[in-house]
Formats: sequence, C-alpha cells, structure tokens
Amino acid sequence: MKRFCKSACEGAAGLLLAAVLPAGAAVCGSCHPEITASYAQTAMARSSGPVDADAELPGEFTHAASSTRYRIVADHGTLELHWPGGRVELDLYIGSRLRGRSYAWQEAGFFYEVPAGYYTARRAWDSAPGYEHDRRLDLDRPLTADCLFCHAGNVRLAPQTVNRILNWREVRGVPCERCHGDGAAHAAHPRRDNIVNPARLAPPLRDAVCEQCHLAGEARVRRPGRQLENFRPGEPLADYLAVYLAGGDARGVSVNGHAEALARSRCRQSGPGLWCGTCHDPHRPVAAAGYREKCLACHAARDCPSPARDQQDCVLCHMPKSRAYDGGHTTFTDHSIPRRPREPAVRPGAPTVLVPYYGSSTPRDLGLAWFQVAEKYAEESLYAKAWPPLREALAGGSADAELYVHAAYLLERDGRGAQAEALYRRALEMEPANPAALANLGFLVSRRGLQKEAAEYWERALHANPRQPAVRRALER
Ligand code: HEC
Ligand code: HEC
Ligand code: HEC
Ligand code: HEC
Ligand code: HEC
Ligand code: HEC
Ligand code: HEC
Repeated sequence: MKRFCKSACEGAAGLLLAAVLPAGAAVCGSCHPEITASYAQTAMARSSGPVDADAELPGEFTHAASSTRYRIVADHGTLELHWPGGRVELDLYIGSRLRGRSYAWQEAGFFYEVPAGYYTARRAWDSAPGYEHDRRLDLDRPLTADCLFCHAGNVRLAPQTVNRILNWREVRGVPCERCHGDGAAHAAHPRRDNIVNPARLAPPLRDAVCEQCHLAGEARVRRPGRQLENFRPGEPLADYLAVYLAGGDARGVSVNGHAEALARSRCRQSGPGLWCGTCHDPHRPVAAAGYREKCLACHAARDCPSPARDQQDCVLCHMPKSRAYDGGHTTFTDHSIPRRPREPAVRPGAPTVLVPYYGSSTPRDLGLAWFQVAEKYAEESLYAKAWPPLREALAGGSADAELYVHAAYLLERDGRGAQAEALYRRALEMEPANPAALANLGFLVSRRGLQKEAAEYWERALHANPRQPAVRRALER
C-alpha cells in the first residue's frame, strides 16, 4: 500500500504490460469450474478493475496537511471525488478492499492516482498512502506500470506512453495465467505437460511465481534487456528483476514482505520444502485456521515447550499479527515464524547495506536500487550511494536507457550539465519516448538558450504523459 515508484524512475515508457494473455479464466472455467469459481472469491482475483459505483461506499474526510475537505459521491452510476472547486470521476480501482482500496481517474485515457483511498478496518475514506503530507491537491501521479504489474494481468498500455491504458474496462485482477503461464495450447489439448503447475517446478522457479508480486524488498530493479511484463511462470525471475533487501537486523513485519520474511525463518533455512503453497491454496481466500497440521508435518508437538501447544493453533504464537512498519493501520502476519513474538514494529531508518535477494548483483542494478531507496526514504544523502556503482556500470560499458537516465540525473544534480545532456541523448537513442529523459533534456538545453529544441522534447514528454505541470509551465513560457 505504498508508492513503489516516483518521478524519475517512471522512465519505463511505452511498456506493453504482459502483452496479450490469450486464454482467460472463462476459458479455464469450462473445464475447471470449481477452481475458477473459488478463485474468483480471492483477493488476488479481485485486486483491480473498473469501478462499480453501486458497490462502493460514499464518504468524506478532511486532508489535514492541505486542509482540504473531500467528498466521495456515488451519483448516476459513477463514483466521484469532489473538493471545493473541482471533481473527478473514479474509473479504476486497485486493491480488493480486504484491507483497503486505491483509485485512479483518467484524462483522455491516461490514468492517474487520486489522493483519497478507502480503509476497510476503519470503514472510512482518508488520504491515500503517500499523499498524507501534501500541501496541495495532487492529481498528477501516473498509475504506474509497477502497480499494474502486481495488481492486474492483462493491461495493455498504449506504446510510447507511461499510463494510457487501452483496455481499462477489461482490467480484472490477477488472472490464472500469471501463475500457470499461457494456457492456449493446454485449453485446446489438455495435458499435464502443456501447462505450468507451480507446485511441480523446481523450488527456486516455484517460489519465483509468487515472488513476482510478493517480494517487495527495499528495491525492485527491472533488469536491462528484458521486460518484466514478459516473465512467464517456469522462468527464473532473476533474469527480469533484481530485488534488494536491507542488510543487518531483521526489520519486523512489512506490508508486502511475506517472501523475504519466510526466507528468514529457521523452518525455511533448513531446506526449501516450506513454501507459500504449503500453507496457502491460492485459489481460496486465506483461511483463518487449520495451520497446525502444516507445522506438524515437520515438527512434533512435544518439540514445543509451551503448555498451550495442544490447545491453540501453533500460528497464534509463532506467526503473530502485528502492525506493519511501513503501512498504515492494518495488521499483517509475521512470516518469519519466530520463537517469540517480536517487539511491535517501529519504522526503521533507511538501510545502510543492500543485499541482493537472488545472490548476484551488478553495479548497474545496485546503483538503481540505491536510487530507489533514496527516493523511498526521501533522503538526499543516499543519492551519493547510487553514484559509485552507476559510474562503475558506465565505465564498464553497460548500456541501457534506465542506467543513462538515472546517472544523468545525478550528474545534473551535481552541476555537470554537459555530461548529463550527453547521457540523456544516449537514453533517447535507445528509448525515444523516455519521459524523464525528454523532460530533463528539455530543461538542460533550454538553459543553454535552445528554446526550440527544448519545446520539441517537452512536447514529446507530454505525449507520453500529459500531466507534468513543470513541463507544461515551461512550454507555456
Ligand atoms: C478443455 C478442457 C480444459 C481447459 C479449457 C483447461 N484445462 Fe486444465 N486440465 C484439463 C484436464 C483434463 C487436466 C488433467 C490432465 C491430465 O491429468 O492428464 C488439466 C490439468 C490442469 C492442471 C494440472 C497440471 C498438473 O500438473 O497436474 C492445471 C494447473 C491446469 N489444468 C490449469 C488450467 C488453466 C490455467 C486453464 C486455462 C488457461 C486450463 N487449465 C484450461 C482440462 C482443461
Ligand atoms: C511488488 C508488487 C506490488 C506493487 C508494485 C504494488 N502492490 Fe499493492 N499490494 C501488493 C500485495 C502483495 C498486496 C497485499 C499485501 C498483503 O496482504 O500483505 C498489496 C496490497 C495493496 C492494497 C490493499 C489491498 C487490500 O485490500 O488488501 C492496495 C490498495 C494497493 N496494494 C495499492 C497499490 C498501488 C496503488 C500501487 C502502485 C502505486 C501498488 N499497490 C503497488 C503488491 C504490490
Ligand atoms: C496466484 C497463483 C495462482 C493463480 C492466479 C491460479 N493458480 Fe491454479 N494453481 C496454483 C498453484 C500454486 C497450484 C498448485 C497447488 C498445489 O498442488 O499445491 C495450482 C494448481 C492448479 C490446478 C491443479 C489442481 C490440482 O488440484 O491439482 C488447476 C486445475 C488450476 N490451478 C487451475 C487454475 C485456474 C483455472 C485459475 C484461474 C481461475 C488458477 N488456477 C489461478 C497457483 C495459482
Ligand atoms: C501478479 C501478482 C501476484 C502473483 C503472481 C501472486 N500474487 Fe498473491 N497477491 C497479489 C496481490 C496484489 C494481492 C493483494 C490483493 C488485494 O487485496 O488487492 C495478493 C494477495 C495474496 C494473498 C492474500 C489473500 C487473502 O485473501 O488475504 C495470498 C495468500 C497470496 N496472495 C498468495 C500467493 C501465492 C501463494 C502466490 C504464488 C503461488 C501468489 N500469491 C502469486 C499479487 C500476486
Ligand atoms: C518443511 C518443514 C517445516 C515446517 C512445515 C515447519 N517448520 Fe518450523 N522448523 C523447521 C526446521 C527444520 C527448523 C529448525 C529446527 C532446528 O534448527 O532445530 C524449524 C524451526 C522452528 C522454530 C524455532 C525457530 C527459532 O528461531 O529457533 C519454530 C518456533 C518453528 N519452527 C515453528 C513452526 C511452526 C509454528 C510451523 C507451522 C506454522 C512450522 N514451524 C512449520 C521445519 C519446518
Ligand atoms: C507456515 C505457514 C505459512 C506459509 C509457508 C506462508 N504463509 Fe502466508 N499466512 C499464514 C498465516 C497463518 C496467515 C494468517 C491467516 C489469518 O489469520 O488470516 C497468512 C497470511 C498471509 C497473507 C495475508 C496478509 C497477512 O500478512 O496476514 C498473505 C498475503 C500471505 N500470507 C502471503 C504468503 C506468501 C506470499 C507466502 C510465501 C512467500 C506465504 N504467505 C507463506 C501462513 C503461512
Ligand atoms: C501459547 C503459545 C504457543 C503455542 C500455541 C505453540 N507454541 Fe511453540 N513455543 C512457544 C514458546 C513460548 C516457545 C519457547 C520460546 C523460547 O524458549 O524462546 C516455543 C518454542 C517452540 C519451538 C522451538 C523449540 C526449541 O526448543 O527449539 C518449536 C519448534 C515450536 N515451539 C513449535 C510449535 C508447534 C509446532 C506448535 C503447534 C503444535 C506450537 N509451537 C504451539 C509458544 C507456543
């Protein structure tokens, strides 16, 4: 429930999300009706979609930092966010509402998050995560490819744009294919060997299926040369994604930290037998009870010195719930299976060391990871940690637009405009619609008096994402 990506790292322009996933649940449902019906009830299946105003609860709240009064109004089949002086229609939602829900509005097909969200435990609307401290109304944050990667499955973005969703009315949560792969051949000639069954994959590949979305880490870096959206179950996720965890002491329960917590548990360190599927059937809503027998597959009850071990489910003591240090007001389950409940989570400071989850790391990925961490914790000093590995990557001949854009941004901050300009230009040779490169290159050449060239870049940047107030203002001057 947190923003994973801000401004500059939105360089992932023109992505085709999970291109076209042909067979849908409807296809699978004709032969697997029970699993399909039960999956439809899960949070994953309902994690995104077009807003149905009749199924939403109107409300209102005051945003303290900006003293704005918001009202959420259901009217004539639409859901609207009103504030003094304006309104937008909420068209897409993210989040099943098991814990909460975020919303997006659109302008000419380009989707943006709204600063209001619904919180289920409190049955109340409030500031959406990440908007708490805003001094003014912000309707300009694009709904990112990263959000959609984890919360949807069949999204088609218009090429060369950041956030124009072509098929938004068809967006419907996480589809079967995200865990089972392309099912077209299997649907035509059903056999066991032409569909992926995660449970029958080798442990690292099996775990990767869930880690696509359940391993947030401190930073998730898209690897160069491959598009994360093209990952298919059965492949190593590390080819597409580098994930970095905070080194040092374990940091308590976080919102989306299930996979990394489980990896820390003693139960898991003794071998890969234990995985998400040991305790969860992904086709059913999470069960509140029945975990004891899972523990007893490896432990004898007498291993536990507690006198209450036979009266209560083991997870009540060994997988306690606690508030996440990084997420609002809901509780999450401690998947590190501790001997004793941890102290209530306090929000830790930014990490001082980053450890690659998949073992190996490259200077390029590490540099981009530090960049993400600097943005996430809004700590200026951390950008300094990004530079040495990025410089090493450039010196070593790594070549990709994300590397160039981020390195250029750091050079620009350091007053080295000419070098920054050269790198932005190289980024555009590889990704002509990279919005960060276009916007920033515009500012650099404009400062050199090249207004016509600057205007050209800015217009291209606005084509990728029209709501960039700084760019628009610059263009109008
Ligand atoms: C035309 C009927 C049909 C359709 C459509 C179909 N399946 Fe199947 N599926 C089967 C049959 C039959 C089996 C059992 C095959 C066997 O045991 O030889 C099976 C087995 C499976 C298995 C188990 C594989 C294993 O390791 O045992 C999975 C997973 C699966 N299907 C998923 C899907 C998904 C996902 C879809 C939609 C993309 C789908 N199926 C569409 C008939 C179908
Ligand atoms: C790396 C994958 C990932 C990304 C990126 C991501 N989410 Fe999530 N999100 C999750 C997972 C997994 C959960 C469930 C967390 C849990 O239950 O511990 C979740 C939960 C949520 C929820 C609460 C849903 C509910 O009712 O339980 C909302 C709302 C949400 N995310 C919105 C967003 C928005 C908006 C973005 C983009 C700014 C985003 N998420 C980015 C994976 C992701
Ligand atoms: C979040 C991941 C995920 C999604 C989404 C998902 N599945 Fe599965 N599916 C699994 C896993 C994991 C298994 C293996 C379960 C096991 O044997 O432990 C599985 C097993 C199956 C099987 C074999 C069942 C059996 O009892 O052997 C079928 C059939 C199947 N899934 C169909 C579907 C269909 C149809 C959909 C969409 C409606 C779907 N799945 C969505 C993860 C998923
Ligand atoms: C495409 C991304 C994606 C993949 C792949 C995925 N998940 Fe999820 N999962 C989510 C999101 C997003 C949520 C939160 C949904 C919400 O509440 O909106 C979630 C929620 C869950 C929940 C909590 C549901 C509940 O009812 O509380 C469980 C359990 C879960 N996932 C297990 C798994 C397992 C096991 C796998 C691998 C077999 C897996 N997931 C693969 C995205 C994914
Ligand atoms: C796949 C096998 C497996 C499963 C399933 C399993 N464990 Fe474990 N667990 C282990 C192993 C192996 C150890 C390490 C034992 C040792 O070092 O003596 C361990 C250690 C532990 C410890 C000691 C942790 C510590 O820090 O010293 C606890 C507590 C524990 N398990 C509880 C549970 C509970 C509760 C469940 C069910 C929710 C469970 N385990 C499920 C294999 C498993
Ligand atoms: C040893 C058993 C066990 C394993 C293994 C396990 N879980 Fe859980 N999980 C639980 C329990 C227990 C709950 C809490 C159920 C309840 O009371 O609602 C839970 C809850 C969740 C939730 C709901 C949010 C929360 O934190 O309460 C998500 C999401 C989830 N698990 C994802 C995963 C993923 C992803 C994996 C694999 C990385 C995984 N789990 C592995 C036992 C397990
Ligand atoms: C009422 C709370 C409670 C319940 C229920 C409970 N435990 Fe424990 N468990 C404890 C405590 C307390 C310890 C000891 C912690 C310590 O000494 O640091 C412990 C220790 C353990 C250990 C580590 C033993 C060792 O000597 O290393 C294991 C394994 C374990 N429990 C497994 C289980 C299993 C399996 C179940 C369910 C059958 C279970 N526990 C139920 C509270 C509980």
